[in-house]
Amino acid sequence: EIERIVLRTILDSRGNPTVEAEVYTCCGFGRAAAPSGASTGTWEAKVRPPREAIAAARENLVPELVGLDAADQVGFDYALHDADGTADFSAIGANVAVALSLACAKAAANATGTELFRYLGGAFTQRTPLPLGNVIGGGAHATNATDIQEFLVIPTGASCAEEAVFANAAVHKKVKELLIAEGKGCGKGDEGAWAPRIADAEAFDLLSRAVDAVSDELKISISMGIDVAATEMWDGSAYTYTGIKRSTEDQIAYIAELVDRYGLVYVEDPLQEEDFEGFAEITAQVGDRCMICGDDLYVTNVERITQGIEAGASNCVLIKPNQIGTLTDTFESVHLAKSQGMDTVMSHRSGETTDETIAHLATAFECRLLKTGVVGGERIAKLNELIRIEEMI
Ligand code: PGA
Ligand code: ZN
Repeated sequence: EIERIVLRTILDSRGNPTVEAEVYTCCGFGRAAAPSGASTGTWEAKVRPPREAIAAARENLVPELVGLDAADQVGFDYALHDADGTADFSAIGANVAVALSLACAKAAANATGTELFRYLGGAFTQRTPLPLGNVIGGGAHATNATDIQEFLVIPTGASCAEEAVFANAAVHKKVKELLIAEGKGCGKGDEGAWAPRIADAEAFDLLSRAVDAVSDELKISISMGIDVAATEMWDGSAYTYTGIKRSTEDQIAYIAELVDRYGLVYVEDPLQEEDFEGFAEITAQVGDRCMICGDDLYVTNVERITQGIEAGASNCVLIKPNQIGTLTDTFESVHLAKSQGMDTVMSHRSGETTDETIAHLATAFECRLLKTGVVGGERIAKLNELIRIEEMI
């Protein structure tokens, strides 16, 4: 039984206020914080300004939740929806909802003396997901940098999480060396990726050189991916970036060409968030050799994922708990995607805290990848937790 709930405003990695929740039962304690996005999807659950949302929740929401059974996650999350009364958490705020929902699960796990990933169904889990790391980036995460939002690495040949985490870090370091050698700047974007003033073509070249070098050194295969975050480039009729205007058709051809030229194994949001058909076309063309992942397209929403399944839009779904607001909804999205044979990727946001919960969710739900950056305190909180989880498995 939940005895006490605490809500407070804490700092996030961009210096903005965000919501932290604590749930206390007689013998359990859970704490979780809400992250926040910069290139958010239109259909995401809505956040409210933290201080205002917390004040309202203390008055109206918390009294409804105290007394509930923390072990009944579905019941707790239903109570959040019930108290909110809207379809997108715009009344209580998705930031308040997700922090409470995750804190509830952590309190229930803690009360039974079980690690969260085991509590959430990971009793038979044999391995952790591979980390998907952001190495070079721009878009909405850094100014005067690349147009494509994220240039990513996946240590596909790594045999364990520890090796994988350090492989990504080695690529990140190697890119810095190459940037310095070329006299380029070494500033970083919101997710800790290098944000040099270079064109996308140069970023591809740099990253593939870094990947080749580290791959040789460590003797494991490492692959590349991108998050185009194409909604940010879409003006309603064309994609405008790298100084070129591309129609949907041109954009599809460009992405397919990149997949083949750089052996990309992962492409997120290659098209704008409403283009299920265009996604289906890219998936038909390169889906046999590349994960085509929907982020803004699906916003972790079962209805949108269902629409994607009907359209054959993608073979991979990005999962961000704060896009939908509760752990139950998050689980349902993962479950639906997996039931259709799609890959799932548990993901951080560009604005993060040191909360490590997604490492547990990714392992418990057996997601293929955990997307959580490469360096920076709020990113390594998740990566180091992944290493600890692997030790427990
Ligand atoms: P966001 O970006 O957290 O700023 O929305 C991350 C992403 O697009 O994957
Ligand atoms: Zn994305």
